[in-house]
Amino acid sequence: MIHLCISTLILTVVMGQKSTDMDKLLNWCLDAKLHKTAPGPENSLHKQCSPWKDRSCCTEETAHKVHNDNIYNFNYNHCRNMSKKCNEHFLQDHCFYECSPNVGPWVVSETRTWRKERFYKVPLCASDCDAWFNDCAEDFTCTDNWSRNFDWLNDTGCSSKCLTNFCPKGSECMTFRKIYGNASNFCEKVWDHAWQYTKDSEPCMRLWFNGSVGNPNDAVARHHAHLIAGASTKHLDYLLFGFLLMILWRTICVF
Ligand SMILES: *[C@@H]1O[C@H](CO)[C@@H](O)[C@H](O)[C@H]1NC(C)=O
Ligand SMILES: *[C@@H]1O[C@H](CO)[C@@H](O)[C@H](O)[C@H]1NC(C)=O
Ligand SMILES: *[C@@H]1O[C@H](CO)[C@@H](O)[C@H](O)[C@H]1NC(C)=O
Ligand SMILES: *[C@@H]1O[C@H](CO)[C@@H](O)[C@H](O)[C@H]1NC(C)=O
Ligand SMILES: *[C@@H]1O[C@H](CO)[C@@H](O)[C@H](O)[C@H]1NC(C)=O
Repeated sequence: MIHLCISTLILTVVMGQKSTDMDKLLNWCLDAKLHKTAPGPENSLHKQCSPWKDRSCCTEETAHKVHNDNIYNFNYNHCRNMSKKCNEHFLQDHCFYECSPNVGPWVVSETRTWRKERFYKVPLCASDCDAWFNDCAEDFTCTDNWSRNFDWLNDTGCSSKCLTNFCPKGSECMTFRKIYGNASNFCEKVWDHAWQYTKDSEPCMRLWFNGSVGNPNDAVARHHAHLIAGASTKHLDYLLFGFLLMILWRTICVF
């Protein structure tokens, strides 16, 4: 009996999402360096970020920076210059990161200098991931986990403080194909589980879509938000059930 009470309590704590509110889950902008506080329309968004312009977490200025500035001082050319076709996928991924209002169900807390929140295991459609990996397969890198494994050192030719990523000591530059082996391993590892490789037949996110006919990822977020909201009502039931059992237990067993 007491076992049951304890396990129901544990279940409630472990499953704690950042929110179980549908409206919040479906309109989430990360608490991070450049994100707006809430999604909204923009008159236009630069180039590859334009699909998000009707409902976006990024401003036009941010969309420009994604294409033209090095916002996080991240060097994609840490081995050799990245090919244009590969770089386009990383740009698209970066637009999703800054602009997508559909990550609410996958937001977790993190403490890094440039953000307090990140997304974790967002389902990425297999075909989008495959296209990304195939276009990068012959490009070069030296480590699989780009969020964590680089050495951040002062760039040469930088007079004041400006850290950038360098290949970790002892690592070797090899093709993406050698480093990652396959598309799913690549998408899941590169940004430390930001993405989860997911069959196209399941609800999954698109990096590439035609924004003028709507954002297909809205429905994916809605699907997962429903699951979370549903699960939280169940947990409430379990919690109530647990309390009832506890009261019953005390009445019967405590004397
Ligand atoms: C790499 O790109 C930089 C900047 O665009 C360019 O100056 C350099 O010549 C390129 N190097 C090679 C080997 O293509
Ligand atoms: C980089 O340079 C800045 C200022 O010159 C210095 O304070 C900092 O410690 C350096 N960081 C590293 C990792 O070398
Ligand atoms: C992809 O590579 C990972 C890591 O090497 C491996 O565990 C996984 O089974 C591979 N998946 C496929 C579909 O080959
Ligand atoms: C990336 O590195 C961090 C820190 O070492 C580790 O906790 C995490 O599991 C790694 N992620 C992947 C996808 O390997
Ligand atoms: C996007 O969809 C609109 C409306 O159906 C269409 O006119 C346009 O050509 C499409 N754009 C692309 C790039 O496919």
